[in-house]
Amino acid sequence: MVTASAPGKVYCFGEHAVVYGEPAVPCAIERRATVTVERRDDDRLRVESEDLRISGFTVEYDGAGGKAPDVDAPTRLLEAATGYVDAAIEQARDAADAPDVGFDVHVESAIPLGAGLGSSAAVVVATIAAASRALDCELDEREIAERAYRSEHAVQDGEASRADTFCSTMGGAVRVAGDDCRRLGTPDLPFVVGYDGGAGDTGELVAGVRALRDEYDFAADTVAAIGDVVRRGETLIEDANAVASEETVSELGRLMNFNHGLLEALGVSSRSLDEMVWAAREAGAAGAKLTGAGGGGCVVALDASDATETALELTPACEDVFRAELASEGVRYE
Ligand code: PMV
Repeated sequence: MVTASAPGKVYCFGEHAVVYGEPAVPCAIERRATVTVERRDDDRLRVESEDLRISGFTVEYDGAGGKAPDVDAPTRLLEAATGYVDAAIEQARDAADAPDVGFDVHVESAIPLGAGLGSSAAVVVATIAAASRALDCELDEREIAERAYRSEHAVQDGEASRADTFCSTMGGAVRVAGDDCRRLGTPDLPFVVGYDGGAGDTGELVAGVRALRDEYDFAADTVAAIGDVVRRGETLIEDANAVASEETVSELGRLMNFNHGLLEALGVSSRSLDEMVWAAREAGAAGAKLTGAGGGGCVVALDASDATETALELTPACEDVFRAELASEGVRYE
């Protein structure tokens, strides 16, 4: 039996634009997905999920390429259980050259699904790490990140960037532009996350931005402007000390506000995300923006005081609020 865990993330800057080669800066946060795998005597997969926010379920089915399992669970959950885990197990089998090994897989996650906190990336990264070790094949972090990217890419019909999977594997703050991925310094930033209890459809939202960008030059300019905001932000993060100064936090917040406005213009925000962003700003946060694909899910704000947390608790659109510590460690064995 092998157990591995990997963190979720918030986007400081750059979601959506990263799909077109602009840089993005996601930061890993201390909310982890933990995956335990055990080899079976046959070639089947049994996936059991115990998400803190959804009722658990179990499915057993033939390995990759098999028929979809016949169980009564919402599609999104099934996709999370079968699609991502399947693709990750496939990568571990490929790495170990063991195509016919079956596994019992147990997933426990504190990261809400589809809410912009990188739940699927964390599950994929932890599954690849655990399953490859169970097959006596040790992968280094770069290889886990590469194989996790291929898994997401396959499940998301080629619309995934490397941002989520690289960040979850490496931990800390990272910079991703196309294939060029690296860690930045890890200043302790005062992240506050607000969650509306909902989720966006990443594929649909990415396709929507692509259509806008194809139709209007100014939408393409908006994507490029997000790239400019990210380049400013990454320099600030790189130059920051272990504990970011008030001045740095304030400038990062301004850039996050700008980034949110540009995402709003691309049509990927929502009323509840905007409400939470404004509640945070009015409470005195240095800045706030949606994180991830948008459409619903989470916002991230910067505020070292309790004011934003209190304001979000009182915001009807906000279902849950928590302070998110930066996870300096990425994937690890438990
Ligand atoms: O909502 P998430 O955590 O799946 O993030 C999606 C980020 C996008 O830039 C919209 C897509 C991607 O793969 O980078």
